[in-house]
Amino acid sequence: MAYLEVDNARFHYLEAGEGPLALFIHGFPLDARMWFDQVEQLADQRRCVAVDLRGSGRSSSFVGEALTMDRHAADMAALIKGLGEKNADVVALSMGGYVALALLEAQPERFRSVALIDTKATADDEAGRAARDGAKERLLAEGRPAFAAGMLGMLVAATTGPTVRARVTDMIEDTPYETIAATLEGMKQRPDRSGLLGRIGFPALVVVGEEDALMPPDVARVMAAAIPEARFDVVPGAGHLTPMEQPQAFNAILREFWGALPHPGQG
Ligand code: MLT
Repeated sequence: MAYLEVDNARFHYLEAGEGPLALFIHGFPLDARMWFDQVEQLADQRRCVAVDLRGSGRSSSFVGEALTMDRHAADMAALIKGLGEKNADVVALSMGGYVALALLEAQPERFRSVALIDTKATADDEAGRAARDGAKERLLAEGRPAFAAGMLGMLVAATTGPTVRARVTDMIEDTPYETIAATLEGMKQRPDRSGLLGRIGFPALVVVGEEDALMPPDVARVMAAAIPEARFDVVPGAGHLTPMEQPQAFNAILREFWGALPHPGQG
């Protein structure tokens, strides 16, 4: 288990492998454990680091009104530096993608490449913001197990098996109430960052599960088309958590994407 103290907080991360840094940023309301299959199986390619965001997993807790994407982005920039690197191959799922886009806006120099998985660049619309408030109320009224059970059906494909479902449930039930509530508020506040996509000046990959009910392939296709020369892949048999639901197919895509990047030091 590894920890790093930066930005007045302690961050826990899973780490394996050597070479260029690959930073994996999890979705909501999950933690670094969602990347087990990547950290384990891609360690021959990269120094794979999967971090628990502030307030999640074993990282420092968060108490406050809103855990914003900008706060997480500043943490990720500090973490990359704290790990002794200038930049990283960032791999980010869903809310992790919102964090990556906030980092892109603030410090684009932190990226060698970006992989945006089951995510989008747009902000919540009015109905989406109301749904965040509803989710917060349900969480407090019904408790975390009911909240986790309600989310699970939206997160994974109908065909996804019990092991992945159990892993997802575990992570949601381990996430503190304060973090869930503050993250719902933080996601609600995030701006539309679609305007940044055309300015991405490094290699980009967009991946989406064919059965992603939350961010369907059509949404991801539009995002990929807005990024200069982005690679776009749809993974069959996956819902919103493609790296967990179809790790072999997902890892093969990432391996190929990384394999085509210039060798570090070559620019
Ligand atoms: C996630 O998986 O991180 C969430 O579905 C993102 C969101 O609720 O917008």
